[in-house]
Amino acid sequence: MAAQDFVIIEDNALICANTAAGLFAERARDAAIRKGLFTVALSGGSTPRPMHRRLAEEPFFSNIPWDKTHIFWVDERCVPENDPASNYGAARKDFIDRLPIPKTHIHPMPVNMPPEKGASCYQREMMDFFGTGPDKTPIFDLILLGIGTDGHTASLFPGHRALHEGKKLISAVKGGMPNVNRLSMTYPILNQAEEIVILAFGTEKAVIIEALLEKKQRGLPALEIQPKSGKLIWLLDRKAAGLLPKD
Ligand code: 6PG
Repeated sequence: MAAQDFVIIEDNALICANTAAGLFAERARDAAIRKGLFTVALSGGSTPRPMHRRLAEEPFFSNIPWDKTHIFWVDERCVPENDPASNYGAARKDFIDRLPIPKTHIHPMPVNMPPEKGASCYQREMMDFFGTGPDKTPIFDLILLGIGTDGHTASLFPGHRALHEGKKLISAVKGGMPNVNRLSMTYPILNQAEEIVILAFGTEKAVIIEALLEKKQRGLPALEIQPKSGKLIWLLDRKAAGLLPKD
């Protein structure tokens, strides 16, 4: 583990959702005070959904500067927003539609165009928003990631060429469950973040969490999440941490 890596183990997934919402709120308030805005990128899948729902409930709802918050996505399945597989569609249902946040602050990935084009359009949108030229990578205040049982994170799947992307910030990939075209942030932008929180809950994640945190098994995409200077927090419930050595 690098110096700025932390592991938080909570009793259950509900407490994890609250802890994750608290980390989100803390980072949002800090960024809004320091810079006047807060930039966050969300992952999809089932793990983050309880946290998303908590963000639209007290005490988090009233303690986050939503008017200064900009929401981007780590990855997206190239499906219509009303498809159950849509990360954006799920986030809208779970919390975004209930937030006092300007529509211009919500930055869904473009899924209604060929994936390669969508990847370059989203990269352009991010760089325009952050005001970064081609030689500077946007720095998110917070990036939330999940972990697949195969060790993928974002939509960076084992063996995919996107794992070796060193320049482009967004890649078009195909894979995962569902096995569809996707857009995904790549390591160059993920590892620039000021803070990355990786969430994993449930017994089915115990083997992969042990492989990642204990065995450091080579070839697992999530192992390459190594923030250049930011903080990395692994937020686990007891079940997902079940195979880690008890300190
Ligand atoms: C996606 C996610 C993906 C997810 C993992 C874990 O869009 O598929 O970003 O990386 O975080 O697959 O998914 P679960 O949370 O459903 O286990």
